[in-house]
Amino acid sequence: MKAFVCKEFGPIESHGIEELPDPVAGDGQVVVDIKATGISFPDVLIVQGLYQFKPPFPFSPGSEISGIVSSVGSGVSQFKEGDRVMGNVGSGGLAEKGAFFEPQLMPLPETMDFQIAAGFPLNYGTTIHGLKQRAELKPDETILILGAGGGLGITAVQVAKAMGAKVIAGVSSEDKLELCKKEGADEGILYPREMDRDAQKKFSNDIKEISGGGVDVIYDIVGGDYAEPSLRAIKRHGRYLVIGFTAGIPKMPLNLTLLKECQIIGVFWGQFAGLDREINKKNFAELFQMHVDGKINPFVSEAYPLERAGEAIKTLEDRKVLGKVVVSME
Ligand SMILES: NC(=O)c1ccc[n+]([C@@H]2O[C@H](COP(=O)([O-])OP(=O)(O)OC[C@H]3O[C@@H](n4cnc5c(N)ncnc54)[C@H](OP(=O)(O)O)[C@@H]3O)[C@@H](O)[C@H]2O)c1
Repeated sequence: MKAFVCKEFGPIESHGIEELPDPVAGDGQVVVDIKATGISFPDVLIVQGLYQFKPPFPFSPGSEISGIVSSVGSGVSQFKEGDRVMGNVGSGGLAEKGAFFEPQLMPLPETMDFQIAAGFPLNYGTTIHGLKQRAELKPDETILILGAGGGLGITAVQVAKAMGAKVIAGVSSEDKLELCKKEGADEGILYPREMDRDAQKKFSNDIKEISGGGVDVIYDIVGGDYAEPSLRAIKRHGRYLVIGFTAGIPKMPLNLTLLKECQIIGVFWGQFAGLDREINKKNFAELFQMHVDGKINPFVSEAYPLERAGEAIKTLEDRKVLGKVVVSME
């Protein structure tokens, strides 16, 4: 089989396609003919050795997959050959086949095609967990989403809107802003790609002005110099969700939490999905229903062939991606 392989950590351009032996299902494993793989920011980091999880070499990045089961190992009870599946598998997705453990997969609803499914589990799973269990977002509350035009950000725009919130999208370009509005954002704020002190002050003021005095919830997948000015524009009793750090890990003045009696809340979907399986299952049942009802509509902007997987990952590193990009094996 062909796979995009990382044999040692290095820039995205240093990895490429190789021929590897087909995987065999071990105990509790399911071999999947992968049809599509979603590209996420951890793929940018994992091949460079910058991610918290470092798989043994050689490995393929690619966490969100969809495909068809081709064989199962002993002890597998939920899947059989021919089943359509989707899943969040950590790594190994950028290959024609993969052997994954049964709990990493779930049945793929008839209503979803392979490309849509490949952008679904990690991003929508994180978003619904963040908004429901962690922020307890209520209808009519106002939410600011930072990095709203990327893979995770667009899911937050859609799900927050479906939950009845007023959505403000924070993005760095006009095309991302346009996409967010199309996907349901009520308002948008354009911020610069680099934040100095003046830009931070302006950003904070813009948030307060557009929201009419401050926001209830902040969905932060960006961090860096965008975090503190956002927290300064949160309302009393607001909830600030710490989700990702594409612009770096920020340091926050904790006096702001005292002044605003607000909460800074961590969100770690992978851990939640492993430890709170029943709640996660309910979340996905709700997401699938929202999809059937047309309340959420996964946005895939581009599908690359496996041979161009490196280019697909590079669009995220270059901050150019609109919504989700996937790699298609079909
Ligand atoms: N906590 C969890 O459970 C969880 C789950 C999934 C993902 N995540 C994290 O969420 C983050 C977003 O992932 P994603 O797959 O949605 O990524 P993505 O599609 O690349 O979107 C990330 C967004 O970050 C913004 N950004 C700001 N500074 C950036 C920089 N220096 N380089 C690149 N992008 C920058 C970009 O928007 P603008 O240009 O508009 O600012 C971009 O659209 C990652 O940090 C990921 O690890 C966390």
